[in-house]
Amino acid sequence: MTEDIPLSAPWIGEREEELVLEALRSGRLSLGPMAERFERALAERTGAPYVVTVSSGTAGLHLAVRLAGFGPGDEVVTTPFSFVASANCLLYEEATPVFADVDPTTLNLDPAAVEAAVTERTKGILAVDIFGYPAEYDELRKVAEKHGLVLVEDACEALGAEYRGRPVGSLSHPAVFAFYPNKQMTTGEGGAVTVATEEDWALLKSLSNQGRLDSGEWLTHGHLGFNYRLDELSAALGLAQLERLDEILERRAEAAARYAELLGDLEGVELPLSDDDDHRRSWFVYVVRLAEDGDRDEVITRLAGEGVAAKPYLPSIHLQPYWRERFGTREGMFPAAESASRRSLALPFHTTLTSGEQARVADALRRAVA
Ligand SMILES: Cc1ncc(COP(=O)(O)O)c(C=O)c1O
Repeated sequence: MTEDIPLSAPWIGEREEELVLEALRSGRLSLGPMAERFERALAERTGAPYVVTVSSGTAGLHLAVRLAGFGPGDEVVTTPFSFVASANCLLYEEATPVFADVDPTTLNLDPAAVEAAVTERTKGILAVDIFGYPAEYDELRKVAEKHGLVLVEDACEALGAEYRGRPVGSLSHPAVFAFYPNKQMTTGEGGAVTVATEEDWALLKSLSNQGRLDSGEWLTHGHLGFNYRLDELSAALGLAQLERLDEILERRAEAAARYAELLGDLEGVELPLSDDDDHRRSWFVYVVRLAEDGDRDEVITRLAGEGVAAKPYLPSIHLQPYWRERFGTREGMFPAAESASRRSLALPFHTTLTSGEQARVADALRRAVA
């Protein structure tokens, strides 16, 4: 019997065990030195002035929305082609998400559609680097500057990506990263927010720690805060993973190149967009698009029959049941996002995927689309 090939898997080694054990043995399981070290290392790696670690990417997005000052009555233009948290975080603060369609090639926000969606109530833009491919930051920043908007970056899928030679995380603040186990690197659960100033850093540290003030008084709360702290064991894991990030990204890029070779001639299967001079992807997932008349769900069933995991990736946010019910959104509103959602298929993709497994996936896909 051959083993099933999972969609994703973390890559954990001796260094991770060593640092997690160090944290465990230190007796400090929260609010300790590991999170501080991880914050400094992340700032150095991404070129961000300051970084706040948090308990998830979603928690980070919520704090980013808080920091941006989006609230009731404020419209924020964002993408419908994303994981649901990138739009939900606006609802947490009662801001109004306004979707603009994506560019059908990059699957990121189309700056012209963003411009067209701006009204006098617009307060910000929330861009997502979908599948690790950086959004059009120079153009989005132009729109933001023209209308006096705050630009928030959901880089949850894009640690290690570069836009016009600059690492994602150094481009605009706040930017948010996520470290769930399917991500390039993981802390189990976890995330991080980049900020521009020490003052913003102190504010987000406080908000993530129940609004405590830096007076050190444990039971004095100066803000309406949350418990969004990243614990020490998770931070230790993240620190070890970050030390190996270059190797992780290299292995993932190699795996992506192997898939491109194996699948390049397959009719009716569109491969992910290649990098160009302005965009360097950090490989998070490997998502192909089938032809409009292909039966994607049937392909998934056939792949499953051969022990190959695959998933529709991603459903458009405005067509999620909760969003339809609350906002009356429906099919036909964002054609590029909807087409990508109908046709997309995530194949098994992770740092330790072997060339043998990739050949099996490719053979199974060839049969499934035949
Ligand atoms: C684009 C995007 N935004 C937000 C998140 C939320 O991150 P988390 O699952 O760590 O809360 C994810 C990760 O799943 C994501 O892919």
